Formats: sequence, C-alpha cells, structure tokens
Amino acid sequence: MTDSNYHLETLATRFDRTGTSVSDTGDVVPPIHLSTTHEMRSPGESNHGYKYTRFGNPTRDVLEERLSELCGAERAVACASGTAAIAATCLSVVEAGDHVVAFDGIYGGTRLLFDDLLVDSLGASVEYVDATDLNTVDEAITDETSLVWMESPTNPLLRLCDLAAVGETAASVDATYIVDNTFATPYFQRPLERGADVVVHSTTKYLNGHSDSMGGAVLTDDHSFADAVEHTQSYDLGGTLAPFDSYLTLRGLRTFPLRMDRHEVNASELAQYLDDHPLVAQVNYPGLPRHPQHDLAREQMDGFGGIVSFELDATAAETRAVLEALDVFTLAVSLGGTESLVDHPATMSASYLADAEREATGISDSLVRIAVGVEHADDLLTDLDQALEHL
Ligand SMILES: Cc1ncc(COP(=O)(O)O)c(C=O)c1O
Repeated sequence: MTDSNYHLETLATRFDRTGTSVSDTGDVVPPIHLSTTHEMRSPGESNHGYKYTRFGNPTRDVLEERLSELCGAERAVACASGTAAIAATCLSVVEAGDHVVAFDGIYGGTRLLFDDLLVDSLGASVEYVDATDLNTVDEAITDETSLVWMESPTNPLLRLCDLAAVGETAASVDATYIVDNTFATPYFQRPLERGADVVVHSTTKYLNGHSDSMGGAVLTDDHSFADAVEHTQSYDLGGTLAPFDSYLTLRGLRTFPLRMDRHEVNASELAQYLDDHPLVAQVNYPGLPRHPQHDLAREQMDGFGGIVSFELDATAAETRAVLEALDVFTLAVSLGGTESLVDHPATMSASYLADAEREATGISDSLVRIAVGVEHADDLLTDLDQALEHL
C-alpha cells in the first residue's frame, strides 16, 4: 500500500523515514536540520543532494513530502509565508502586459501584492470580478489572460466560487488556474480535484495550527511549474521555509484533522447562535442554510470550516465596544490556531485596502470576523453573549 492509499488522518501522523538521514536511527519524529551548509564530497559534488539550505534542507523536504501527500499533489514547495508562496507562483506565471482575472473578495494582502507586484512593477493588468457569479469570470477572460486567481471561501466574507466551473473557463484560454485554499484546507476542500492547476496555502493558519510559525505552500501536479516556483523562491526571492518552521509545521500537521473537526463543530454552533441573535444583521458562514451559496458549499466542500463573519446592527463605536468586551476571544489578526481570535477587518486585517475597495467588497465598520478555536463551545457562546450585551 502506498502512502496515498491511506486516509488523511493517517497520512497526517506518518513520517516516511526511507531515504532520509534518520533511516538508521529510527526517529519517529523528523529532526530539525539547522545546518545552513553541507560538506561536499569533492568540489561541486554534494552529499545526499544538499548544499545550502536556501536550495534544499532535509527537514523542509520531509514537510514538502507530507504536504504533497495531504493535499493529494505530486509536488509541494514550502515557502517562508503564504505571501511568499503567492509571490512566487505569480512571478512564475505572469509576464509584462499579461491579463489576470481575480475574485474581488480575495484576502486584502493578496490584492495589495497583485497591485504592487503585478500591476505597478510588471505592467500586467488585474481585473477583479464578483466570481460568485460565473458569468463575470466568463466575460472578463480573454486570450491574453495568463492567470485566473480564486480564493474560496474568501477572507473575510466567506463568499464562494464554483471551483470546477471556473477551472473549465480558465482552461478554455489555457490560463493557469490558482486557488488559495487557506480557509477550507485540504481537509474540507481539494481544488486540484476540481480543475485547479495550482493550490496555495498560508500554512501560518490551519496547517501549522498553533499561531507560532509563518509559512506557505504551493501544491501542484505539474513538475515543471513546481521547478519554476522552487527556482523563483530559492534564487530570486530567497523566501524558502526555515528548518525550525518546517519542524513546527510538521508537528502541527499531526493533529490537523482532529483540530479541523473541532473548529468546524464550534464554528457551526456559533454561526447558528449569531444567526438567531436580534442585534446581528447578517451572518456569513457557508454551513448556514441561508448562506446564498450553501448548496455549492455542500457540493464542493466536505465541511464548512472554522471562520464566521457577521455584520452587527451597530455603529462603529458600538462594534468596537463589543470587541473590547470579549474575554475568551483574543482581539488579534490571523486565524487557524487553537485559540479563538476576533478581528475587525475594517481596522485590522483589511485596513490597508483603500476605503473605496473595502466598501466595494462589502467590508463595513460593523463587520466582525471570528476565527473559532478548539475551546469548549459553551465558553465561546457565553463570551459572545455577554459581549453583545454591550449593544
Ligand atoms: C486567505 C489568505 N491567503 C494568504 C494569506 C497570507 O498568508 P501569510 O500571512 O502567511 O503571508 C492570508 C493571511 O491572512 C490569508 O488569509
């Protein structure tokens, strides 16, 4: 039986020692190889293929092997952050004058990167579309489109696109189709099985899962694309993942499926509570039957994830008072760790978007995003309940 025949829960706990430097010592946990350089057998002839950590590191190699197994991809490239993964993939596809089509609801940091790197530096054009409606993608795409970039569900409004349908449209003009799968993770969604050429992740979030390591990953079945990303990362950007972060991510991956189950159970309970609350104007969670894309979520996802956002029937000042009153939830950006976090996108995670862009994409002053952790759901509910009393 090859590793890929095992279930994800089993794959997450495994560490294939074959061919690694610990095959003789029988370690059950991959060691951290901190050496930045490796002795050569003779000039220009490396030992075991390792020369210098920016180009290759044994701990990072184990992580890449684990990530490719977990995501069902032929190759994984581990990067210094999700942003480094996004930059390396974009630079491996987009050339001056190219046209890019992107979901208008993508993470604000990705949008900033596209505007700085692709538009201002490269001279490409990026067209943002409301990809909840497939027609907008069909209409935007042209023969000059080299990249179609989707994120589903989006950060922070949890909007979805039909992954397979967008894949068909991208394929019709031979554009590279990339999906940021950070929110759903390979536990709940597998875009490579729905036509994506490449998947990117911020491993800083659920894959590491403990808010103690920055990282990113690029997953693909296309070996030449993976080689290009590896080259860009190693030689041009220098943003390969450090050995210690590789180790931390490997450690986090062991409990990844367990954590995802709990994140989802808690998030579903909180979404339902918020949906019933009279002072909550709208709840964004694909698991709620009233989410406009609930049927699509059921069709293309195996679960709905751990992030919920909601619109309070409140002013900016009242919203601030609610956030400050929370106790179990920590007021902080990011998501995917074991602890519950609360974010005010307008002033925190999406604060660097221009006001007009924020408004156009529906990020208002009364929008709150919660990254639901693995605590006891009752404690989270009680905390939200007492904070909402400040309205
Ligand atoms: C959906 C999504 N993609 C990418 C990123 C960027 O990841 P990183 O912060 O690891 O660079 C984030 C960060 O919040 C994100 O939410």
